[in-house]
Amino acid sequence: MRFFSFLFVNATLIGFTFAQGIAVSAPIEGATVKAGSNITVQVDGPLVKQGSIQAAVVIGLLSCSPPCPSPAQEIGKILYNGPYFPTIHFLGPGPAGTQIFENLTVAIPAFVALGPAQLSVTQTNLLNDGSHLVLRSSAVTVLMD
Ligand SMILES: *[C@@H]1O[C@H](CO)[C@@H](O)[C@H](O)[C@H]1NC(C)=O
Ligand SMILES: *[C@@H]1O[C@H](CO)[C@@H](O)[C@H](O)[C@H]1NC(C)=O
Repeated sequence: MRFFSFLFVNATLIGFTFAQGIAVSAPIEGATVKAGSNITVQVDGPLVKQGSIQAAVVIGLLSCSPPCPSPAQEIGKILYNGPYFPTIHFLGPGPAGTQIFENLTVAIPAFVALGPAQLSVTQTNLLNDGSHLVLRSSAVTVLMD
């Protein structure tokens, strides 16, 4: 029964929420980030598919004024490079209250250029058959303070 309802929720969510891809939902665009602090990066994303054997993300910080280069071109300083397994969080009623994300804590270097910077998340997702390496990224501009 439990298993069944999980499947149902899962299917419903896929119908609703997921565009393919990942998104940084915290910090938000324009947020101020203190040099030398630890921050939580909330990375929203689809559940890891059955067929993917490895999911990882790289979080990068690049000092730049918008428009910044795409993270695929320039990722900046790598703050995190490791596993990414988002899970379902029920934060409120209805589909809007249900989110899939993983919070990753990163250390912002103490000596970093102040002013605008691009905080990006890039996901590599290797499919089971070895034929596809999927790259997706998302970024927000923050203000280093
Ligand atoms: C950031 O996290 C690291 C590792 O958990 C810890 O050693 C450090 O004191 C933290 N720094 C701040 C400013 O909270
Ligand atoms: C994850 O991040 C969100 C948004 O920043 C926050 O509301 C939530 O409390 C965090 N969860 C954990 C477990 O840190």
